[in-house]
Amino acid sequence: MKKKFFDHMIHGGDYNPDQWIKTPEIWDEDMRLMKLAHVNSATINIFSWSLIEPEEGVYNFGWLDTMMDKLHENGISVILATPSGARPPWLAQKYPEVLRVEESGIRNEFGVRHNHCLTSPIYREKVRNINRIIAERYKNHPALKMWHISNEYCGECHCELCQEAFRNWVREYYHNDLEELNDKWWNGFWSHRMNDWSQINSPKFRGENHVPAMKLCWNRFVSDSHISFYKNEIEPLREITPDIPITTNFMKMYDGIDYQKFAKGLDLVSWDNYPAWDKGRNVSEALETAFVHDAFRSMKDGQPFFMMESTPSLVNWHDVNKLPKSGMQELSAIQAIAHGSDSVQYFQWRKSRAGHEKYHGAVVDHCGHENTRVFRDVAHLGKNLEKLGDVTGSYCNSKVAIVCDWENIWATKHFCGFNNINRNYVAECMKWYAPFLKNGISADVIPMDADFSKYDLIIAPFLYMLKDGTAERIEKYIENGGNFVATYLSFMVDKNDMCFLGGFPAENLKNVFGIWNEETDSLPEGMKNSVDFGGEKYDVEHVCDIIHSTGAEILGTYEQDFYKGMPAVTENNYGKGKAYYVAFRNDGNFADIFCKKLVEDAQIAPDCNVTADDGVLIRKRGEHIFVMNFSDSKVKVNLNGEYKNTVSGEMLTGETELDVCGYLILE
Ligand code: GAL
Repeated sequence: MKKKFFDHMIHGGDYNPDQWIKTPEIWDEDMRLMKLAHVNSATINIFSWSLIEPEEGVYNFGWLDTMMDKLHENGISVILATPSGARPPWLAQKYPEVLRVEESGIRNEFGVRHNHCLTSPIYREKVRNINRIIAERYKNHPALKMWHISNEYCGECHCELCQEAFRNWVREYYHNDLEELNDKWWNGFWSHRMNDWSQINSPKFRGENHVPAMKLCWNRFVSDSHISFYKNEIEPLREITPDIPITTNFMKMYDGIDYQKFAKGLDLVSWDNYPAWDKGRNVSEALETAFVHDAFRSMKDGQPFFMMESTPSLVNWHDVNKLPKSGMQELSAIQAIAHGSDSVQYFQWRKSRAGHEKYHGAVVDHCGHENTRVFRDVAHLGKNLEKLGDVTGSYCNSKVAIVCDWENIWATKHFCGFNNINRNYVAECMKWYAPFLKNGISADVIPMDADFSKYDLIIAPFLYMLKDGTAERIEKYIENGGNFVATYLSFMVDKNDMCFLGGFPAENLKNVFGIWNEETDSLPEGMKNSVDFGGEKYDVEHVCDIIHSTGAEILGTYEQDFYKGMPAVTENNYGKGKAYYVAFRNDGNFADIFCKKLVEDAQIAPDCNVTADDGVLIRKRGEHIFVMNFSDSKVKVNLNGEYKNTVSGEMLTGETELDVCGYLILE
């Protein structure tokens, strides 16, 4: 079912009035400034636990009551956070078990944030308790529109409670059968056979760290611990406020949590977007950011997501924090919307006066007034967002999918062999996503267990690991007419990182692709091979398979080394579909060219007729076409039709120009 949470674009972001509790005049000024900036939403209470519960069982909600009312009176809705991302000092002091234990085995002291054990029953109880009190208090407050759970769940804990929980997790995964675990972890190797579950510990540098299957289990366990921590957090909220949607803010392609799995328990996905603009590579940055937006959009069947945070100017945590030029953040915000966001939100509304983040960009600077470049830019965008109500809730319709699977992110990191310094699985996925977007074709970014049937073309770069049933699903998909592209080092191991026997690709995929992958070569940095494809030469880097065709048509061959003349690109008809194998890692140039052939073969047309110069990204969302100039110069856009400019209302036709950072939203 298609869900729409708001009928207007959400514009606002993290607001920390608790830092300004002694200067209530600033709160009033904030209300005035928010209206001036066309802000309609504030995310509050994220890190306020030490203020709302200054002592155990003593609560102080007066300030939050006032703030909720104030925001409501000023027409600003509230995304209310649960405060578990950072706990008060008294809690850590009284219950040291809530603090995280690092891999070293040493328990952290109180400090920073996200520094909690994921298993601790006491922490879970304390979190549930404060969440229940907050939900009871504000359940009928008209400002409350959404829950923001904790903040950027991340990290792992190695305390004894977590070790025990890990052992139990593993026990369940292997059906309470230690022999099965010994087999799957290949524990005969280096004499690691276990005879008791208590011999299992978390992976550690000074302990066990050479068993890939065990490291995969640890990743799964940590990820599941976050999910179960989250479920514990939301229990009282679901009970008390069943109609208020719940989200938590994810981070880029953070690999500590299987976001694709986590997303299933959220009402909507949200994420914090901090691209490094204006460092001389805006177009590549835009392509990578687009990929991440699409990965998050794809997590709930294309349902619109929220951009929960972004900076209105600079951040404070890059090595060098370059100021983006005016217009850049507006373009970045429009890009998020083009890819499915129903919100533009900032970290943060007002700069802290002191502390670690005082030089991080904010809408209101230390000067405190609205006469700044950043404030004007935000207000300008806010005004434009008010015209985009019709865009909210709309979906993108992708015929292409790129498989980028979280478990495969882990698996491609853990094995030892081939090219150990250039794995870059996610970058590989991005490389194969970019050519489609550059040609105005939208793509979803999906896990390997997603429904394949709705796509005409699926590219699964470096799909090293196959989860149970995936090989069969790939085969079915191709048999039924799908077009599927695999690349080097694919279909090698199962979910326990056990190699498939009988030759690669695994199982019947050998027949489906019509190839046999005999060996894999790795190229040191700077050493290249090349491939002849269609009479042109393309660079091979990092890693390449030496394959034989057992029936596939050979489209490209290697040009150097002892495997000169052997197949590097193949195409095989299987059932009603096609299976392509690209046996080498390319630098992007080959992907650009090969995608042209793929879309022709699969008869996939661009999402719309609008075309433009290089550096312009075109994206269709619902009935709207977004044309965005990420290049450093003025560009030409060919509308090839007549459209209404959604923001200005004017009709446009023929050829038009876009300034640097310029964009058009057409309907
Ligand atoms: C986010 C975090 C915010 C703030 C921001 C600074 O990752 O959720 O609380 O620290 O980074 O960029």
